Amino acid sequence: MRPRSPQIFVLDTGGQYCHLIARRIRELGVYAEVRRSDVPASELEGARGIIISGGPASVYDENSPRIDAEILDGKAAVLGICYGLQLMAQALGASVTPGVKGEYGLATLHLEDGAASSALLAGLTDAQQIWMSHKDVVATVPSGFSRTGSTSTCAIAVIERPERALYGVQFHPEVVHTAQGQVLLSNFVFGIAGCSRDWDPAHQPGEIERQIRDAVGDRSVFFFVSGGVDSTVAYTLCVRALGPDRVRGVYVDTGLMRDGETPAVEQMFARLGGEVVVEQASAEFLGALAAARDPEAKRSIIGEAFVAVQERIIDSRHLMDGHWILGQGTIYPDTIESGGTSQAAVIKTHHNRVEGIQKLIAEGRIVEPLSSYYKDEVRAIGMQLGLPAEYLERHPFPGPGLAIRCLCSEMDVDLASRGEAFLVPVRSVGVQGDFRTYAPVLATTEYPSKTADLQSSATELVNGSGEINRVIALVDSTAPLAAMRVWKSAVTPQRIVRLREADRIVREMSHASGFDREIWQFPVVLIPLGTAARPDSIVLRPVDSIDGMTAQSVSMDEEALAAMADRLLKVEGVAAVFYDLTHKPPATIEWE
Ligand code: XMP
Repeated sequence: MRPRSPQIFVLDTGGQYCHLIARRIRELGVYAEVRRSDVPASELEGARGIIISGGPASVYDENSPRIDAEILDGKAAVLGICYGLQLMAQALGASVTPGVKGEYGLATLHLEDGAASSALLAGLTDAQQIWMSHKDVVATVPSGFSRTGSTSTCAIAVIERPERALYGVQFHPEVVHTAQGQVLLSNFVFGIAGCSRDWDPAHQPGEIERQIRDAVGDRSVFFFVSGGVDSTVAYTLCVRALGPDRVRGVYVDTGLMRDGETPAVEQMFARLGGEVVVEQASAEFLGALAAARDPEAKRSIIGEAFVAVQERIIDSRHLMDGHWILGQGTIYPDTIESGGTSQAAVIKTHHNRVEGIQKLIAEGRIVEPLSSYYKDEVRAIGMQLGLPAEYLERHPFPGPGLAIRCLCSEMDVDLASRGEAFLVPVRSVGVQGDFRTYAPVLATTEYPSKTADLQSSATELVNGSGEINRVIALVDSTAPLAAMRVWKSAVTPQRIVRLREADRIVREMSHASGFDREIWQFPVVLIPLGTAARPDSIVLRPVDSIDGMTAQSVSMDEEALAAMADRLLKVEGVAAVFYDLTHKPPATIEWE
């Protein structure tokens, strides 16, 4: 649901930066939305500023994202970032040089003559840290522009033409590694585009409730709740908008949930009002998954099983007789990684966007009160609604549940030894540039206490190899790695029980130590690597992130890690415990 007319539009040129930029702008108190890069300028009318995001493409690629050059006609201020700068420069007749190696990571920005009077660079200090990620470079300054910033390897890092309110930066002001990035964005939004503050998610509940009433009319809303923050906040908004008698919910127990989840969800909704019942469907889900091995196939089976259960419930309760509409907790970025807004390749299909649900959307039988909001905004709204902090601060948990953390193999395979490391032929999903990879993992036997070093070498190994997309370090095992192999395996009830028990131990220990409050998420993954008696291993995947779009593998205290591994090795069937050292990119947070 759209809260208002955006003052700032962020044009998506692929990759994941557009949402990060829009979030940063909203953090400044200004409402921003994302659009496809080639949106006609006429559809952006009324905006004060347009930001062309960075993306992984080259202006020389066939089919690379384009812009409507009319956006540069001076009606709105424009800031091109990275690829956005290159598009803008090219459209204005400057040349862009194709890069070979590229520049990725930290760099130092030098302010050039003219920077002192630049509205974009006001308040920025010379020699500040910035973050670069690009191949091509702008080679000539477009006519009428001046160059106000450079780095040692990139001569044209900032350009501007203030009379036309056109600005471009080669680095990424939206990422936290750019020290004064938020100052620069604030200069653009307030100083140049002249936006006024119009955005505070905590003020939104009243408006969202009005929109719910409009969308729902005199019907009632039916929710499939997951216990996660998004569907809980969406449900609560509907209860407030429509009253408890017009909101019903079902929690589908897929058999793929974490330990203790079902009773906890029942308890929570009992407090929120409306009526939520539990539908037991474990046998159905586990039955449908029995033969699946491929991650996308698993997601699709789960998505379709959800739809089948939903349709059965809807039929048996006559919920589609015109009086009911389906409510969902979809949030803004849920659309991006499925290619919803953009040209981005499908990285992983989110289960709430499979065909069955799309059909409901097309028929207009759906209300998604949070579809314009980012996660942190959903939390702020939830706080405003008086939801307990312990619910709002829960780590995200994927809709398809433990199934996508229970990895499978088509066949028995031996490990290939590489000195201190082993190539483990269990494939997991990664993301490099705009592309999804599905590749084996490298397991090192170096103890992960020196994680910072290992993490940077993990990125180098992945980027340099083309063969793997993830690196894990062995923490402890019941047998040497050389004595293990990968076993033919599927998502079986026995493996789910094993994973659930491991997940329970990890959650309990990280909650007791307070570690869970320091991180974004702590997936626990089961991989079919082990001995005949203990055929599986556990991978610990604690990550820090701002929004899940990029993430860093987080180091754990050495003693805590050893104690955790000790308990995990007591779980039936578990041969070894590993630690995932890979950031996102090049790996994803979840393994599938
Ligand atoms: P990845 O693995 O893509 O995850 O780096 C990014 C964030 O999204 C969550 N995730 C999902 N959430 N359904 C969901 O509701 C899904 O299919 C799904 N896949 C990933 C993941 O837990 C992380 O927070």
